[in-house]
Amino acid sequence: MFLVPVPAILGSLLLSTPVFAANATEWSSRSIYQLITDRFATFNDAAAPCVADARKYCGGSWRGIVKHLDYIQGMGFDAVWISPVSANVEGETVLGEAYHGYWTKDFDSLNPRFGTADDLRALSDALHKRGMYLMLDVVVNHMVTRGPGVNLTDLSAPFNDISAFHQRCILLESLDSRNQTAVEQCWLGDSKFPLPDLNTENPAIVAKLLDWIHKLVQGYGVDGLRVDTVKHIRKDFWPEFSKAAGVFMLGEVFTNTTDYAVPYTEVLDAILDYPLYFPLVQTFLDTQAKFSSVATVLMRSQETYKHGLLSTASFVENHDLPRLASVTKDPALIRNAMTFPFVHDGIPVAYYGQEQGYQGGADPYNREALWFTAYQEEKPLFQHFRSLNTARKEAIEFSTDFLTTPMKLLAIQDHSMAVFKPPMLALFTNIGSESPRGITWQVDAVFPPKELLVDVLTCTEVMADSQGGVTVPSVYGMPQVLMPARSLRQGGAVCPSVATGIRAKSAGLPEVRVTWAVIMASILFFVLCRGHL
Ligand SMILES: *[C@@H]1O[C@H](CO)[C@@H](O)[C@H](O)[C@H]1NC(C)=O
Ligand SMILES: *[C@@H]1O[C@H](CO)[C@@H](O)[C@H](O)[C@H]1NC(C)=O
Ligand SMILES: *[C@@H]1O[C@H](CO)[C@@H](O)[C@H](O)[C@H]1NC(C)=O
Ligand SMILES: *[C@@H]1O[C@H](CO)[C@@H](O)[C@H](O)[C@H]1NC(C)=O
Repeated sequence: MFLVPVPAILGSLLLSTPVFAANATEWSSRSIYQLITDRFATFNDAAAPCVADARKYCGGSWRGIVKHLDYIQGMGFDAVWISPVSANVEGETVLGEAYHGYWTKDFDSLNPRFGTADDLRALSDALHKRGMYLMLDVVVNHMVTRGPGVNLTDLSAPFNDISAFHQRCILLESLDSRNQTAVEQCWLGDSKFPLPDLNTENPAIVAKLLDWIHKLVQGYGVDGLRVDTVKHIRKDFWPEFSKAAGVFMLGEVFTNTTDYAVPYTEVLDAILDYPLYFPLVQTFLDTQAKFSSVATVLMRSQETYKHGLLSTASFVENHDLPRLASVTKDPALIRNAMTFPFVHDGIPVAYYGQEQGYQGGADPYNREALWFTAYQEEKPLFQHFRSLNTARKEAIEFSTDFLTTPMKLLAIQDHSMAVFKPPMLALFTNIGSESPRGITWQVDAVFPPKELLVDVLTCTEVMADSQGGVTVPSVYGMPQVLMPARSLRQGGAVCPSVATGIRAKSAGLPEVRVTWAVIMASILFFVLCRGHL
């Protein structure tokens, strides 16, 4: 009874509240909370049983999300990425039920497990009323039907024809990863559970997908898309798809190689920053690892991606990756890693449950029901996210260049580094909370001399030295995010007792580059004058 085809409901959806349908520029100032609809909240807050590794539906829904938007907004997030909404294959498979939404069976219907078209519309409206964005996760690489291959009788036109799918061959990542044709046309999954791969070279299939995404975005006031399995479809499909959608598109290109990622930054608004994810977690979570691998990948990405790391989104957890707390219990290491996406050039993305200290390992353990936590807001990591989000907002308001100025790595040592993205100076270390040796960050001349700074994570004051440099010891291996007290609004949410909030337009920070330009100009002038003498 819930299976309402998209076109039929369009009439009743005629837009009552404003829709943002945002582009890349508009998304750049946002920060995203990623959740799995089935696991975030039930419509009546029933404490439904949920065992993550049973891989079954647990009862979360779109109405459930609406009830807990205060919780998400309370952490400072202003965009929500929800798991896929299309109808999925029903019943038990060898990999359990399709609670995660990545097994589309019918593009034209919503997944009735998560609610009705009106419920999804209500979520979209509720977000927009708060000025928040809705990001939908979409899958167009493959479908799933009953049976161990394509069951055409399970599908509607144009998918009920064998030409709708690529010829069956199972992709073996280890063997085929360098054969891009195989990556694009073979099937994901394995012989027990193959994922029939849509023939995105077939014009009828392409036309259907473009029509579908257009109607989905329009029909539900979608502001942006997260696109699954991007590298498994030919690259020149994406600009067409993006045009049909008409909103910001963030792609999943699963790779640990920047060179492999580069061409995707040309065909999508942004990619999830997987190449940096791998060295990040390896380094931030291991007290023995060195920061040089992070620096290498970071600088290479800034150089080679279409808009550097500005055209990315940064994360340290998601539904496919083991949670940080499954790798280490050290709160200092976890906080350093969590902080990094908020000073990264891309859009920060956080995965639901991290704020509650969830510790699930890789899929399916990282997909815990959140309702067991009672959505408590007095948790340390909830507050940590709040501080990071509000500080980032203040930085954006203080400096119009914050979102377009690439971060600089400074003072890179084996176990510490600083990231300067004016007006923020973030100090990281992986010595951990129990290190007897401690560590001191020493960063040269980045602020005006004697600038009063505040660590926005603890509200501790730090004075820049007479050169504008900073020398600060770490406290129990925790990260610090220093900002000038005058960049923080008086009476604002960040360290109100320290914020001075003198926000004259001219009070922006002098750029280090300007100082150098002045020095170079003086030298040049001097040399030229000498020439004349
Ligand atoms: C995004 O939209 C805004 C507001 O409509 C506009 O000013 C801006 O130029 C657009 N940016 C891009 C990259 O299209
Ligand atoms: C194929 O789908 C039809 C319709 O849903 C179903 O009756 C049939 O059992 C399926 N075949 C297999 C092999 O699962
Ligand atoms: C690449 O994969 C395709 C699809 O499986 C296959 O037809 C082709 O022979 C492969 N090419 C090479 C060079 O292995
Ligand atoms: C990158 O991924 C490939 C394939 O999964 C793997 O073989 C390789 O070791 C990884 N490299 C690094 C540096 O992690």
